[in-house]
Amino acid sequence: MDALIFNDEFHTMTLSEDGSYTAFSKEYGEHYHSTKDGALHESLVKHVEPAFKIKKYKDEINILDICYGLGFNTLATLYYCKKNNITSKINIYSPELDVKLVKSLKDFTYPKEFDEFKNIILELSDKGIYDDVYWHIEIFLGDAREYVRTFSHVKFDIVYQDAFSPTANPTLWTKEYFNDIKKIIKEDAILTTYSISLQTRLALYENFFHIYINSGSGFRDATVASPLKLSYFQEVDMEHKISCNTHVRPLSDAHVKR
Ligand SMILES: C[S@@+](CC[C@H](N)C(=O)[O-])C[C@H]1O[C@@H](n2cnc3c(N)ncnc32)[C@H](O)[C@@H]1O
Repeated sequence: MDALIFNDEFHTMTLSEDGSYTAFSKEYGEHYHSTKDGALHESLVKHVEPAFKIKKYKDEINILDICYGLGFNTLATLYYCKKNNITSKINIYSPELDVKLVKSLKDFTYPKEFDEFKNIILELSDKGIYDDVYWHIEIFLGDAREYVRTFSHVKFDIVYQDAFSPTANPTLWTKEYFNDIKKIIKEDAILTTYSISLQTRLALYENFFHIYINSGSGFRDATVASPLKLSYFQEVDMEHKISCNTHVRPLSDAHVKR
């Protein structure tokens, strides 16, 4: 497929190393995905695959996708479910602040793996909602903090924590933010994130999440967290990390600009 032009005042399109395109945000000074790990590959190995390893046997799976961005985590979920014949009802809820971005996604050059979801991409871009027998997807155009604080519709099985970095997007990494997340997830929920910083892991740990390493060949380590003990992933010995790094504190709302 030829690349469509996806350049505006705030974004430029970038080819990542797995051959899929991602974008660079001029506002945040960061790419939407690791260009080294590849946009599609990163979505699959750091979010969808680790989450579904544990959740694929459920009849209904509720996913919080923080934040929609280019929609890779949502679309990679559909791709993964189709490829693996997962027939669970999948409900995805995804906040996104950048209205202009969502509206422009009909012009984004997605990997061929998403070709079969073209109609879904268009509906989400136009109306922010898609619904069929298997999949229900809703994009909330607004602040994720507000969304998480007020959300009461379902309890989540999976959270894809995929904001820009804690340095560029700190309000979505604080201890208080993860406390709000904790209130809207199930006791056996799984949270996936690319961040491996101790600060992030502490913000989760201080909200009573167990912290695990998501590692594999062909991608840099990532983090999985759950209120429950998981046997599938190697647990991080947080007490040991804390004792070796007594100066590290989690981000907190009082210290980040909102
Ligand atoms: C790293 S990108 C997300 C990438 C996305 N998961 C994907 O697969 O393409 C981070 C996104 O968070 C959005 N964002 C930043 N702060 C936000 C906030 N407070 N509420 C909602 N969205 C926010 C940005 O506009 C950006 O689209």
